[in-house]
Amino acid sequence: MAAAAPAGPSGDLWSPDGPDLVVHGDNAAVLPGLPEGSFTMVYIDPPFNTGRPQKRQELSMVRSASGDRIGFSGQRYETIKGALHRYDDAFSDYWAFLEPRLVEAWRLLAPDGTLYLHLDYREAHYAKVMLDAIFGRDCFLNEIIWAYDYGARTKRRWPTKHDNVLVYVKDPARYHFDAAEVDREPYMAPGLVTPEKRELGKLPTDVWWHTIVSPTGREKTGYPTQKPEGLVRRMVAASSRPGDWVLDFFAGSGTLGAVAQRLGRRFVCIDANPQAVEVMAGRLPSARVVAVPEGTV
Ligand SMILES: C[S@@+](CC[C@H](N)C(=O)[O-])C[C@H]1O[C@@H](n2cnc3c(N)ncnc32)[C@H](O)[C@@H]1O
Repeated sequence: MAAAAPAGPSGDLWSPDGPDLVVHGDNAAVLPGLPEGSFTMVYIDPPFNTGRPQKRQELSMVRSASGDRIGFSGQRYETIKGALHRYDDAFSDYWAFLEPRLVEAWRLLAPDGTLYLHLDYREAHYAKVMLDAIFGRDCFLNEIIWAYDYGARTKRRWPTKHDNVLVYVKDPARYHFDAAEVDREPYMAPGLVTPEKRELGKLPTDVWWHTIVSPTGREKTGYPTQKPEGLVRRMVAASSRPGDWVLDFFAGSGTLGAVAQRLGRRFVCIDANPQAVEVMAGRLPSARVVAVPEGTV
């Protein structure tokens, strides 16, 4: 892989008229260098368990009209004790890693923007509590269930064959959502609908049946946690317009970038792993590849 060029001074990293970007760096270091409100859609698929003990965080905030602190966009926040995350170390570690990054996602979303947070069923409930606090409960739009059918089936419980995607909007009165842009599915009982409806197909619900990335298919990059383009395409198609900027700051193999490229959106894909950046540089050849060492932005 050609070495990623170092990013310039703060503020140089991204501009609305600049090229699509693949960024090598810790997202905690990169995100503060991106301007507020720049992205119509953020898709993230964080590691489910970082495996590292994190610094304990004892306080958190919820949005509240009578709150004692002024936060993003002049909104008021109420400081709450972290009683919830004292009961479970795993929750506390996960909170400490993810929460500041989700706050950045909120800051970076445009007023009509949407966050898609892709999670494992073991973590989704923790993250929902966090996102309710960061975005506000009224900004929760959906929980999408991605159902697949692959791998061994235990006989000791119901085999778990799904992921969860939490969807939050920056502003429930202004968010962009275009159902007409979404690919349609065959009806389950096609005999019960008119030929016209059968031909058109039905709008997907919040349960999406989709195969995993085929080990022999065109999409396969070899990156271990790669997600199918078909899933991400629906999200990008519904929640952004051609020309809009979209962001993935746990980008892995760059699935969001690949979809964005095909649908005429602009993208920033960030990952801390050099192997991920190498895969993305090959998959997204038109993007500029830059490196952001910690402490430079
Ligand atoms: C589950 S994978 C994402 C897979 C991706 N959705 C795809 O389709 O290929 C999570 C990614 O987050 C990256 N990651 C973990 N911690 C990070 C951090 N602090 N900053 C940037 N990337 C990070 C990992 O290197 C990994 O590639």
